[in-house]
Amino acid sequence: MFDLKGKTALITGASRGIGRAISEAYCEIGIHVAGIARDITPIKDMENSQSYSGNFKGYTCDISVGKNVKETISEVLKDFGQIDILINNAGITRDTLLVRMSEKQWDEVLAINLKGAFNCTRNIVRPMLKNKFGRIINIGSVVGIMGNTGQANYVASKAGLIGLTKSTAQELAKRNITVNCIAPGFINTDMTEKLSEDIKDQMKKSIPMNRFGSPQDVASLALFLASDEAGYITGQTITVDGGMIMN
Ligand code: NAI
Repeated sequence: MFDLKGKTALITGASRGIGRAISEAYCEIGIHVAGIARDITPIKDMENSQSYSGNFKGYTCDISVGKNVKETISEVLKDFGQIDILINNAGITRDTLLVRMSEKQWDEVLAINLKGAFNCTRNIVRPMLKNKFGRIINIGSVVGIMGNTGQANYVASKAGLIGLTKSTAQELAKRNITVNCIAPGFINTDMTEKLSEDIKDQMKKSIPMNRFGSPQDVASLALFLASDEAGYITGQTITVDGGMIMN
């Protein structure tokens, strides 16, 4: 297994689904995890749960607000001394066809999914530069590559994350900081739970493996990308999608 014991990771959207699975996988191998979420209760429960081996500490923060992110990251740095790994995972959907999409639905999704990642990255890069080590992992989506009906706001935010990944990777490559994007396909979480059975069946037909993935499938790649073994991989978007997209 990868030797990441004693490293510190900041994970946004840590309270549920993919962020929670990455938190669990990281804590299990001795990474200290600072987990950000909007609601306090689930992350406080995680602090007290055996599954996180005493390595999890929760913080509430709305990542779309730059000032809040700056304050939260200062608090995390005070508590842990360093942040080695950043997982920009928090994301929301506000699905509807473009003609019906309100400015509010557009702004909310872009503010959390894309600006939130920018806010976290910008505030974490300086301490990573000082430490001469860093792993930044953005959680995108296959739809950011393919497009998807009824998700113009979400798809634009995820395509934007791929661009953010490439630019940040180029700026930081010489400093031993890698930046990559994981693009999951359909993963069983609260986000996909709300889809109708009809839509789920339709989606399964577009997946060669004919099933949805699990949050742990995404966590496995997040573990590898954080490791020394992945040190020569940067600026990439890697899909975890049961074969939906084959380049
Ligand atoms: P989820 O809905 O289960 O969890 C979202 C998390 O984000 C929660 O912890 C929530 O507290 C946090 N969050 C939301 N708004 C926030 C804000 N303003 N500030 C701080 N935290 C906030 O989501 P899920 O399914 O685990 O998805 C995680 C990421 O993976 C998202 O970026 C999503 O777009 C992406 N993804 C998910 C797929 C899926 O099939 N579930 C497929 C492709 C990508």
